[in-house]
Amino acid sequence: MNTVAIVPAAGRGERLGFGVPKALVPVRGSALLAHAVRGLLTAGCVRHVVVAAPPAEVESTAKLLADAGLPADVVPGGADRTDSVRRALRHALTAVPDARVVLVHDAARAFTPPQVIQAVVDAVLAGAPAVIPVLPMADTVKQVDAAGVVLATPDRAALRIVQTPQGFDAATLTRAYAAAGDSATDDAGLVEKLGVPVATVPGHPYAMKVTTPFDLAIAEAVLSAVEVS
Ligand code: CTP
Ligand code: MG
Repeated sequence: MNTVAIVPAAGRGERLGFGVPKALVPVRGSALLAHAVRGLLTAGCVRHVVVAAPPAEVESTAKLLADAGLPADVVPGGADRTDSVRRALRHALTAVPDARVVLVHDAARAFTPPQVIQAVVDAVLAGAPAVIPVLPMADTVKQVDAAGVVLATPDRAALRIVQTPQGFDAATLTRAYAAAGDSATDDAGLVEKLGVPVATVPGHPYAMKVTTPFDLAIAEAVLSAVEVS
Protein backbone atom coordinates (compact mmCIF):
# COMPACT_ATOMS: atom_id res chain seq x y z
CA MET A 1 0.00 0.00 0.00
CA ASN A 2 1.72 3.15 -1.17
CA THR A 3 -1.28 5.47 -1.05
CA VAL A 4 -1.58 8.46 1.25
CA ALA A 5 -4.79 10.43 1.75
CA ILE A 6 -5.11 14.13 2.48
CA VAL A 7 -8.27 15.46 4.09
CA PRO A 8 -8.66 19.24 4.03
CA ALA A 9 -10.90 19.96 7.03
CA ALA A 10 -9.83 23.47 7.99
CA GLY A 11 -12.87 25.33 6.64
CA ARG A 12 -15.23 27.27 8.88
CA GLY A 13 -18.48 25.79 7.65
CA GLU A 14 -20.12 29.19 7.31
CA ARG A 15 -22.87 28.06 4.96
CA LEU A 16 -23.78 25.23 7.33
CA GLY A 17 -23.99 27.80 10.12
CA PHE A 18 -23.35 25.52 13.11
CA GLY A 19 -20.89 27.93 14.72
CA VAL A 20 -18.18 25.23 14.66
CA PRO A 21 -15.95 24.04 11.81
CA LYS A 22 -18.00 21.84 9.48
CA ALA A 23 -15.63 18.88 9.90
CA LEU A 24 -16.53 18.75 13.60
CA VAL A 25 -20.31 18.82 13.11
CA PRO A 26 -21.78 15.52 14.34
CA VAL A 27 -23.77 13.24 12.05
CA ARG A 28 -25.49 10.46 14.02
CA GLY A 29 -23.05 10.83 16.89
CA SER A 30 -19.70 11.15 15.06
CA ALA A 31 -18.00 14.19 13.56
CA LEU A 32 -18.22 14.50 9.78
CA LEU A 33 -14.41 14.27 9.71
CA ALA A 34 -14.41 10.98 11.63
CA HIS A 35 -16.82 9.52 9.06
CA ALA A 36 -14.56 10.72 6.24
CA VAL A 37 -11.37 9.29 7.77
CA ARG A 38 -13.11 6.02 8.66
CA GLY A 39 -14.26 5.70 5.04
CA LEU A 40 -10.72 6.13 3.75
CA LEU A 41 -9.29 3.59 6.19
CA THR A 42 -12.12 1.13 5.50
CA ALA A 43 -11.36 1.15 1.78
CA GLY A 44 -8.27 -0.90 2.67
CA CYS A 45 -5.90 0.75 0.21
CA VAL A 46 -4.81 3.82 2.20
CA ARG A 47 -1.60 3.61 4.26
CA HIS A 48 -1.53 7.03 5.90
CA VAL A 49 -4.07 9.83 6.44
CA VAL A 50 -3.17 13.49 6.94
CA VAL A 51 -5.87 15.93 8.04
CA ALA A 52 -5.60 19.73 7.75
CA ALA A 53 -7.57 21.18 10.67
CA PRO A 54 -8.35 24.76 11.66
CA PRO A 55 -5.14 25.94 13.41
CA ALA A 56 -6.97 26.48 16.72
CA GLU A 57 -8.48 22.98 16.54
CA VAL A 58 -5.43 20.85 15.75
CA GLU A 59 -5.18 19.27 19.19
CA SER A 60 -8.90 18.70 19.64
CA THR A 61 -9.13 17.21 16.14
CA ALA A 62 -6.22 14.84 16.82
CA LYS A 63 -7.89 13.76 20.07
CA LEU A 64 -11.27 13.29 18.40
CA LEU A 65 -9.72 10.97 15.80
CA ALA A 66 -7.58 9.09 18.33
CA ASP A 67 -10.60 8.56 20.59
CA ALA A 68 -12.48 7.14 17.60
CA GLY A 69 -9.60 4.72 16.94
CA LEU A 70 -8.75 6.42 13.64
CA PRO A 71 -4.99 6.81 13.04
CA ALA A 72 -4.22 10.10 11.28
CA ASP A 73 -1.73 12.96 11.45
CA VAL A 74 -3.30 16.38 11.98
CA VAL A 75 -1.59 19.54 10.68
CA PRO A 76 -2.73 23.17 10.78
CA GLY A 77 -4.65 24.17 7.65
CA GLY A 78 -4.34 27.45 5.79
CA ALA A 79 -6.47 30.42 4.82
CA ASP A 80 -8.07 28.65 1.85
CA ARG A 81 -8.48 25.06 0.73
CA THR A 82 -5.51 25.23 -1.65
CA ASP A 83 -3.25 26.30 1.21
CA SER A 84 -4.62 23.55 3.47
CA VAL A 85 -4.00 20.88 0.82
CA ARG A 86 -0.51 22.25 0.15
CA ARG A 87 0.42 22.02 3.84
CA ALA A 88 -1.04 18.52 4.26
CA LEU A 89 0.63 17.34 1.04
CA ARG A 90 4.03 18.52 2.26
CA HIS A 91 3.52 16.65 5.54
CA ALA A 92 2.24 13.49 3.82
CA LEU A 93 5.16 13.21 1.43
CA THR A 94 7.62 13.78 4.28
CA ALA A 95 5.93 11.09 6.39
CA VAL A 96 5.67 8.65 3.47
CA PRO A 97 8.44 9.58 1.00
CA ASP A 98 7.78 6.54 -1.20
CA ALA A 99 4.07 7.34 -1.62
CA ARG A 100 3.02 6.68 -5.20
CA VAL A 101 -0.64 7.70 -5.04
CA VAL A 102 -2.09 10.74 -3.24
CA LEU A 103 -5.83 10.97 -2.61
CA VAL A 104 -7.27 14.40 -1.89
CA HIS A 105 -10.61 14.05 -0.14
CA ASP A 106 -12.98 16.54 1.49
CA ALA A 107 -14.11 16.17 5.08
CA ALA A 108 -17.40 17.48 3.71
CA ARG A 109 -17.82 14.33 1.50
CA ALA A 110 -17.72 11.95 4.43
CA PHE A 111 -19.80 9.13 2.92
CA THR A 112 -18.00 8.28 -0.32
CA PRO A 113 -18.34 4.47 -0.59
CA PRO A 114 -15.09 2.46 -0.19
CA GLN A 115 -15.58 1.00 -3.69
CA VAL A 116 -15.27 4.49 -5.22
CA ILE A 117 -12.09 5.16 -3.22
CA GLN A 118 -10.63 1.84 -4.37
CA ALA A 119 -11.59 2.53 -8.00
CA VAL A 120 -9.77 5.88 -7.94
CA VAL A 121 -6.61 4.30 -6.48
CA ASP A 122 -6.75 1.38 -8.95
CA ALA A 123 -6.98 3.77 -11.90
CA VAL A 124 -3.91 5.73 -10.73
CA LEU A 125 -1.98 2.50 -10.13
CA ALA A 126 -2.98 1.41 -13.65
CA GLY A 127 -1.16 4.46 -15.02
CA ALA A 128 -3.52 7.47 -15.01
CA PRO A 129 -1.70 10.52 -13.55
CA ALA A 130 -4.98 12.02 -12.29
CA VAL A 131 -8.38 10.43 -11.64
CA ILE A 132 -11.65 11.95 -10.48
CA PRO A 133 -14.98 10.31 -9.55
CA VAL A 134 -17.85 11.81 -11.54
CA LEU A 135 -21.61 11.55 -11.98
CA PRO A 136 -23.76 12.51 -14.96
CA MET A 137 -25.81 15.72 -14.67
CA ALA A 138 -29.48 15.21 -13.87
CA ASP A 139 -30.40 18.86 -14.44
CA THR A 140 -30.17 21.01 -17.52
CA VAL A 141 -27.40 23.59 -17.14
CA LYS A 142 -27.37 27.12 -18.61
CA GLN A 143 -24.48 29.47 -19.07
CA VAL A 144 -25.58 33.04 -18.19
CA ASP A 145 -24.07 36.52 -18.36
CA ALA A 146 -23.58 38.93 -15.43
CA ALA A 147 -27.23 40.01 -15.70
CA GLY A 148 -28.47 36.41 -15.55
CA VAL A 149 -29.46 36.30 -19.23
CA VAL A 150 -28.86 32.94 -20.87
CA LEU A 151 -25.89 32.80 -23.21
CA ALA A 152 -25.84 29.10 -24.03
CA THR A 153 -27.10 25.64 -23.12
CA PRO A 154 -24.15 23.23 -22.89
CA ASP A 155 -24.85 19.68 -24.02
CA ARG A 156 -25.71 17.94 -20.74
CA ALA A 157 -24.54 14.58 -22.05
CA ALA A 158 -20.94 15.85 -22.02
CA LEU A 159 -21.10 17.36 -18.49
CA ARG A 160 -20.18 15.64 -15.23
CA ILE A 161 -20.48 16.47 -11.53
CA VAL A 162 -17.12 16.06 -9.79
CA GLN A 163 -16.66 14.37 -6.42
CA THR A 164 -13.80 13.33 -4.13
CA PRO A 165 -11.46 11.66 -3.36
CA GLN A 166 -9.49 12.72 -6.40
CA GLY A 167 -6.43 10.56 -6.98
CA PHE A 168 -3.02 11.55 -8.33
CA ASP A 169 0.34 10.18 -9.10
CA ALA A 170 2.36 11.81 -6.26
CA ALA A 171 4.87 13.53 -8.57
CA THR A 172 2.09 15.00 -10.75
CA LEU A 173 0.21 16.49 -7.78
CA THR A 174 3.43 17.92 -6.35
CA ARG A 175 4.15 19.57 -9.69
CA ALA A 176 0.58 20.91 -9.96
CA TYR A 177 0.73 22.48 -6.49
CA ALA A 178 4.17 23.96 -7.15
CA ALA A 179 2.69 25.74 -10.19
CA ALA A 180 -0.62 26.67 -8.48
CA GLY A 181 -1.66 30.18 -7.49
CA ASP A 182 -3.44 30.95 -4.26
CA SER A 183 -6.88 29.61 -4.74
CA ALA A 184 -8.35 26.61 -6.54
CA THR A 185 -11.41 24.63 -5.53
CA ASP A 186 -10.53 21.64 -7.66
CA ASP A 187 -7.22 19.79 -7.43
CA ALA A 188 -7.69 18.10 -10.79
CA GLY A 189 -8.10 21.58 -12.31
CA LEU A 190 -4.50 22.33 -11.32
CA VAL A 191 -3.34 19.18 -13.09
CA GLU A 192 -5.36 20.13 -16.19
CA LYS A 193 -3.45 23.42 -16.27
CA LEU A 194 -0.23 21.42 -16.63
CA GLY A 195 -1.70 19.83 -19.76
CA VAL A 196 -1.83 16.44 -18.06
CA PRO A 197 -4.93 14.31 -18.88
CA VAL A 198 -7.45 13.73 -16.09
CA ALA A 199 -9.32 10.41 -16.22
CA THR A 200 -12.74 9.70 -14.68
CA VAL A 201 -14.31 6.78 -12.81
CA PRO A 202 -17.97 6.44 -11.77
CA GLY A 203 -18.78 8.35 -8.59
CA HIS A 204 -21.71 7.66 -6.26
CA PRO A 205 -24.64 9.74 -4.95
CA TYR A 206 -23.47 9.06 -1.36
CA ALA A 207 -20.30 11.07 -2.12
CA MET A 208 -22.43 14.23 -1.98
CA LYS A 209 -20.88 17.28 -0.34
CA VAL A 210 -22.33 18.67 2.87
CA THR A 211 -22.53 22.42 2.39
CA THR A 212 -25.91 23.54 3.74
CA PRO A 213 -28.33 22.37 6.48
CA PHE A 214 -30.35 20.69 3.70
CA ASP A 215 -27.29 18.61 2.74
CA LEU A 216 -26.79 17.65 6.38
CA ALA A 217 -30.31 16.21 6.47
CA ILE A 218 -29.51 14.20 3.32
CA ALA A 219 -26.25 13.02 4.91
CA GLU A 220 -28.15 11.74 7.97
CA ALA A 221 -30.40 9.76 5.62
CA VAL A 222 -27.39 8.42 3.69
CA LEU A 223 -25.74 7.27 6.89
CA SER A 224 -28.85 5.50 8.16
CA ALA A 225 -29.13 3.76 4.77
CA VAL A 226 -25.47 2.66 5.01
CA GLU A 227 -25.97 1.48 8.60
CA VAL A 228 -28.89 -0.83 7.73
CA SER A 229 -27.25 -2.21 4.58
N1 CTP B 1 -11.14 23.68 3.65
C1 CTP B 1 -9.86 23.69 4.22
N2 CTP B 1 -9.23 24.87 4.49
C2 CTP B 1 -9.83 26.04 4.21
C3 CTP B 1 -11.12 26.06 3.61
C4 CTP B 1 -11.75 24.85 3.34
O1 CTP B 1 -9.30 22.61 4.50
N3 CTP B 1 -9.20 27.16 4.54
C5 CTP B 1 -11.83 22.37 3.44
C6 CTP B 1 -13.16 22.28 4.19
O2 CTP B 1 -12.92 21.94 5.56
C7 CTP B 1 -13.90 21.23 3.41
C8 CTP B 1 -13.34 21.38 1.99
O3 CTP B 1 -12.17 22.19 2.08
O4 CTP B 1 -13.65 19.91 3.85
C9 CTP B 1 -14.36 22.01 1.05
O5 CTP B 1 -14.65 23.34 1.48
P1 CTP B 1 -16.11 23.87 1.81
O6 CTP B 1 -17.15 22.84 1.51
O7 CTP B 1 -16.24 25.23 1.24
O8 CTP B 1 -16.07 23.92 3.44
P2 CTP B 1 -16.02 25.21 4.37
O9 CTP B 1 -15.03 26.18 3.83
O10 CTP B 1 -15.83 24.69 5.75
O11 CTP B 1 -17.51 25.76 4.25
P3 CTP B 1 -17.97 27.30 3.98
O12 CTP B 1 -17.35 27.68 2.64
O13 CTP B 1 -19.46 27.23 3.98
O14 CTP B 1 -17.42 28.12 5.13
MG1 MG C 1 -15.40 27.13 1.89
